Order: sequence, then C-alpha cells, then structure tokens
Amino acid sequence: MENKRENFGSRLAVIFAMAGSAIGLGNIWRFPFMVGEHGGAAFILIYILATLLVSLPVFICEVTIGRRSRQTAYNAMPTLKPGLRLGRVAGFLSVLVPVVLASYYSVIGGWSLEYFFQAASGRIVRQSPAEVTTVFETFISSPWMPLTTHLLFLGICAFIVARGVKSGIEKFSKVSIPVLFFLIVGMLVYSVTLPGSAEGVRYMVHPDFSQINARSLAYALGQSFYSLSLGAGAIVTYGSYVKKSENIIVSSAATAVSDLLFAILAGLAVMPAVFAAGIEPGAGPGLVFQTIPFIFSSLGANLPIISTVCAIAFFLAITVAAITSEISLLEVAVSYLHDKFGLSRVWSSVLVFVFCGLVGALCSLSFGPLAAFKLSGMGLLDLFDWLCSNVLMLLLSLISVIFVGFFLGKENLRDELSNGGTLPLGRGLFNILYFAIKWVAPIAIALIFITNFIL
Ligand code: PHE
Repeated sequence: MENKRENFGSRLAVIFAMAGSAIGLGNIWRFPFMVGEHGGAAFILIYILATLLVSLPVFICEVTIGRRSRQTAYNAMPTLKPGLRLGRVAGFLSVLVPVVLASYYSVIGGWSLEYFFQAASGRIVRQSPAEVTTVFETFISSPWMPLTTHLLFLGICAFIVARGVKSGIEKFSKVSIPVLFFLIVGMLVYSVTLPGSAEGVRYMVHPDFSQINARSLAYALGQSFYSLSLGAGAIVTYGSYVKKSENIIVSSAATAVSDLLFAILAGLAVMPAVFAAGIEPGAGPGLVFQTIPFIFSSLGANLPIISTVCAIAFFLAITVAAITSEISLLEVAVSYLHDKFGLSRVWSSVLVFVFCGLVGALCSLSFGPLAAFKLSGMGLLDLFDWLCSNVLMLLLSLISVIFVGFFLGKENLRDELSNGGTLPLGRGLFNILYFAIKWVAPIAIALIFITNFIL
C-alpha cells in the first residue's frame, strides 16, 4: 500500500488542496451571517483567536494522523494503535460523517450552481427586488430543478475525484484557489464602492464586545472547526498524501491563514453590500441566496453590466469553493472503497456518486414534496447539518486530539512534526503546541458541547 499511495506534488499543492477543502460554503455562506448575528467585528476577533489557538492545533493533529499512518481516515488510527477501540470508533465516524455531509453539501452546492446559471443568464439582475425571495422559495421547493442541480454538482465533483489525487484534486485546486481569491476581491471592490456601504465596513472593523457571551464563543469555535474541515476525515485523508519531507506545521498554518483571510474577505465583500441595500445584517442563512440577489437586482437598474458581472463572479466563487470542499469529502469515501475493497477509483467514485446522490435527493426533497416529514421539528437537510456540525464533527475532532495527546505519544508527535529530527522544531513551540493539543483543545470542544446542549 505504502509505495502505491499517491502524493501531492509540492508544498503549494498540499496547501491548495487543503485550503480548497477548508474554503467553502462555510466561508461565503455561513461566516457572513454568523458575523451578522453575533456582533460583527468582536465575533471576528474571537474567531481569529479560536482558529489560531484551538483549531490550528487540531488541524495539525489530523494531518499528523494521516501522514504517520499513510492510510485513509477509516484505517488511520487503527493502524497507529491497533486494538484501540477509540480508534475504531473514529474510523467508523470517518466514513459516516463525510458521506452524510457530502450528500447535503452537494444540495447546497447545487443551489449555488443554479444561482450561477441565473446570474449568467441575466435573470438575477433583471428580476425585481420584490421577487427575489419568491424565486428562491419556488426553486428550492420545486422537486426537479434542485434535484437536477444537486446531481450535476455531485457529478462534477465525483468526476474530479475519479481522476485521482494528482491529476484530479491537485490540478483542480491549483487553478481554483487563486481564481477564488481573485473573484472575492473583485466582489469586495464592487461592494465597498456602493453608496451607503461605509457603515458595513465599520461594522466589520469596530468590535462591540457587549454582544459577546458564552454562546457566541461556542459559535465562533464551532464555525472555525467547520471552516477548517475538522472532524470529517477529510484532513486526515489529505494528510496521508502529504510527502514525508513536507513540513506539517508550515503547511497547516498556511492553510489556516488562507482560510481565515478568505472568510474575512468574504465578510468584507458581503456586509458592505448588505448595509448599502439597507438590510439587517443578522438575516440568517438566507443571506447568500436571498440578500445577495436582492442587492444585485436593486442595483442592477442603475449598473446593469457591472452588477451582472459581479453576480456571475460571486456565484461562480461560491460554486467553485463548494466543489473543492465537496471533493475532499468524496475523497474520504472513495479512498476507503479503494483501499479496503480494492475497487478502482472510477468504480468507487460511481458508487459514492450513487449513494450520496440518493441521500442528497432526500435532503433536496425535504424543502418540497417531503417538507411534511420532520424529525424534532427539522427537515432532513437541517437535521443532517445539525447532526454533523454540532455533534459528529466535534466528536471526531475530540477523539483526534485525545488520540494524539494521550495515545500517540509525545515523542512520536515530535518525530512526525520534525520529520524524524531533520527539521528544526523549537522546544518551546513544540511544548506550547502539545499543551494546546492535550489540554486546550479537548476542554474547548467540551465547552462547545456544554454550551450547545446544556446552557
Ligand atoms: N470547510 C468546508 C467549508 O467551509 C466544509 C467542510 C467540512 C468540508 C468538513 C470538508 C470537510 O465549507
């Protein structure tokens, strides 16, 4: 298995692939409305601290587990510590979580694709602002259109994954990550030049700490975990393709910083436009598919060409960002089928496409024909999202840090992070990192659980 395993070609390729997984709907769709609901700049500051102090160490753990074991997430911990039950539980979760997540993520990816088509056909800019919400609701509740875009989106991603790690995932990420930064900066320039946008910029840079409480702390931490793709098997699996000569700490830090930067740029692109259009910043999950089209259609009357170009760029950015995240999820399942059952990558991708296609179809229909089917008041997509991001991903992250902090052994960790002693790794830095992994991260994750379920 060892010598057959593909590797990412270079450090940049590792960073682009991992940043591709991290930068996704979480940055463009979730982050701006979280900022809007939880106090603007103060939330951003806490988010930055949470990412650097807690999520980055967890990220380093996941890459370490992947690279040291050279196995897909399902087998990684069991290979490092055979017989450890915790490792087997993690292995099971590492297949379950990405498959469920990929199924509904692809539905929202399909919505982005639909909005990209609408932007390209000029419809978003032509429609009247009053129509925007009805257009969105009619779209998601109709049975066929969202199903079609879901399958199209999933098909594109499965195709990229089927081509392999180097010629599929690596190639696509190398092009798409620079393009994404370019598109979001373009949108940012459009947004901050709109009349009335200054208030939105102020909102993004002036912290109001009175809005911060235990709940917003937990949300900031949870968002940062989700945004860095932690607890879903994706980073462990990508870690297994990182060369033994690569510096894990440097690649992980570069990924975390790109993800942070992208989230902040996306917030700066969205919020000023929201203020310019006179909309409440805490508009919730509808922000991207209702508020943003509202802005393009209200401004479209005066600036039709610029608005159309920006609408296309914006929805293209969301779609591409969602594709690079989705492929990291599909890769976990595809490499599992490939490694465990010896199936070819193409057949594994087909199977994963069929499975996620079906589960995603049920999620998609939960806004239309299956809307009456609810569990604890939630439709299927909302339920899966809640289950993954509030329970299972946190649990898997918790197991990963406990595994590295308590079972892998300090010396093994030092060995992996210093590439067998060949890289300089300061004692101080290593001890801080080890402390963050062993104590800070588990306690922080436990606190999120307590806030979410008890408070
Ligand atoms: N990080 C992705 C985002 O921000 C979501 C994701 C989570 C992707 C877990 C892969 C694994 O949208």
